[in-house]
Amino acid sequence: MELLEDFKNRARDNRKKIVLPEGTEPRIIKAAFEILKDELAEIILLGAEDEIKSIASQEGADIDRAVLINPGQSDRKQEFDDLFYQLRKHKGISRDEASRIMVDPLYFGTMLVHTGQADGMVAGSINSTGDVLRPPFQIIKTKPGVSVVSGAFIMQLPDSELGANGTFVFADCAVNPVPEAEQLAEIALSSAETARTLLNIEPIVALLSFSTKGSASHELVERVVTATKIARERAQGLLLDGELQADAALIAAVAKTKCPNNCVAGKANVLVFPDLQSGNIGYKLVERLAGAKAIGPILQGIAKPVNDLSRGCSVDDIVNLVAITSVQAS
Ligand code: ACO
Repeated sequence: MELLEDFKNRARDNRKKIVLPEGTEPRIIKAAFEILKDELAEIILLGAEDEIKSIASQEGADIDRAVLINPGQSDRKQEFDDLFYQLRKHKGISRDEASRIMVDPLYFGTMLVHTGQADGMVAGSINSTGDVLRPPFQIIKTKPGVSVVSGAFIMQLPDSELGANGTFVFADCAVNPVPEAEQLAEIALSSAETARTLLNIEPIVALLSFSTKGSASHELVERVVTATKIARERAQGLLLDGELQADAALIAAVAKTKCPNNCVAGKANVLVFPDLQSGNIGYKLVERLAGAKAIGPILQGIAKPVNDLSRGCSVDDIVNLVAITSVQAS
């Protein structure tokens, strides 16, 4: 079955409550209509209720079953102001500042997720990545034992038997510009978890470099070697190795020459890039030159699911990301 269909079926089977803070954006309203029609999730839209209803009616989108909340007028507002003030007063914010910040739908939506009134959040159709990520980083924070949130892509190659029959997890392609060795190890472990929970596959994780098992020496290679060591210590039993060049990680014949008898080389289905430049460039090259479908970024390592849309997203992109967020929340 097509992967996105599978996510939708899984979302439908275990319907979650997803908050969409950009509630007055026409693409979000149309997506909410599609999601409710297909019973993929329950939807909370944030924004001025009259404005949301008026746009929905212009778009012919029936969103009667969505819950509409105007953050500034919500009866939860004061409780959220207090909670945010308690969470952030050590950073020097005042109660008044907390109250002003909590009018922002991205902060209010994050607080709905943090307090369990929503199961996940999807935003970014009209906001930058930084603006979408900062509230969850400040409020929801990372999963226990994880210190960095990272962004994975599911890559689906046409007609390929590499990886998991042409399917891969690539990370970090979206968040951490220069991860330290410890952070790189965490990104590798979070990516393995993403492969298990979203793709239902046994992860085979390669930490990529321009060196394969000591073929080159450089401080950048050393960082990947250290990250591999940390990740292996933390997740014994997980098929994970590095440092590997991309060809050694992917192609059995190359693996045989460069590092024979390696448990990961030639079989990897989770590719961990050494930094954000290589990860972001890598997924875009595979997408554009190999015709792969790139699904993401999917945030991993965060305590509750939040996902970031591209500002160029379509209604379908929003529907798909809500389905994925629901599956992560299950
Ligand atoms: N994981 C968890 N928490 C984090 C992370 C992380 N990766 N990064 C920052 N934080 C936390 C900080 O600890 C801090 O928490 P605190 O305030 O409680 O101490 C809070 O977030 C804010 O940290 P800043 O360092 O001030 O974060 P800033 O807002 O400057 O940057 C951001 C965070 C926006 C995610 C930054 O790392 C960034 O811009 N990354 C690149 C994003 C990007 O442009 N990606 C490419 C485009 S996406 C694409 O092409 C698919």
